[in-house]
Amino acid sequence: MTATLALIGGTGINRWPGLDVVQPHRLETPWGPPSGPLIEGRLGGQSVVFLARHGDGHKIPPHAINYRANIAALAALGITRVVAIAAVGGIAEWLAPGGLALPEDLIDYTTGREHSYSDGRPGAPLDHVEMTPAYDADLRADLRLAAAASGVTLCGEGVLGVTNGPRLETAAEIRRLQRDGCDMVGMTGMPEAALAREKGLAYACLAVSVNWGAGLKGGGSIHAEIEASIARGMTQVQALIAALISGAAATA
Ligand code: HPA
Repeated sequence: MTATLALIGGTGINRWPGLDVVQPHRLETPWGPPSGPLIEGRLGGQSVVFLARHGDGHKIPPHAINYRANIAALAALGITRVVAIAAVGGIAEWLAPGGLALPEDLIDYTTGREHSYSDGRPGAPLDHVEMTPAYDADLRADLRLAAAASGVTLCGEGVLGVTNGPRLETAAEIRRLQRDGCDMVGMTGMPEAALAREKGLAYACLAVSVNWGAGLKGGGSIHAEIEASIARGMTQVQALIAALISGAAATA
């Protein structure tokens, strides 16, 4: 396996269009099975691995994803860089549905998730990993260049608030996230980012706004908003990732 870059796809991108599948890797880890096979494939002539975070058919809810197995399996395959694609609700004015963001930091509001490899079992490390910066600076720089090379607009950077789900937030919860400094809200950004840090993987999040946070605009159905914007956002993600992979970023 020559791939060192992995893409984790979430809501709206459960398989990668145009990925030429070479081999699905079905791995077991000491933390159990990952969400599904790690799909080794070729994209634009380059080797990559794709993992559907919610499993085949999008069946695993955010709080039930085996994040430890997913990240451990990627590390075991030899992956060193992970771009995590996440659908989010926009909170900041600048992140309307259909827009992309490259979060620079996060706040973790999740509870009850297996969130560390330092879990007290025999042989487990006791790691107080640093989360500053929360995401890998070099990979984020490459993503910025890839956006420029592909003509895809990154609306901003900002802070991702991660809630437990699977329910959406109340309007008061969104106002609280806003006061806390969150620019967007999603359900899968943690513990994924922290586990990647524990495993020494370079990890960055590409967030796609698919709705406004609850109560912020309109008053229509959030699900209708998601329906209307998700395909547009994911098309831009694919263009940006194609540029990242083809190395267009290096020559931009
Ligand atoms: N809240 C939390 N997670 C989400 C949202 C939201 O509004 N939209 C997409 N993922």
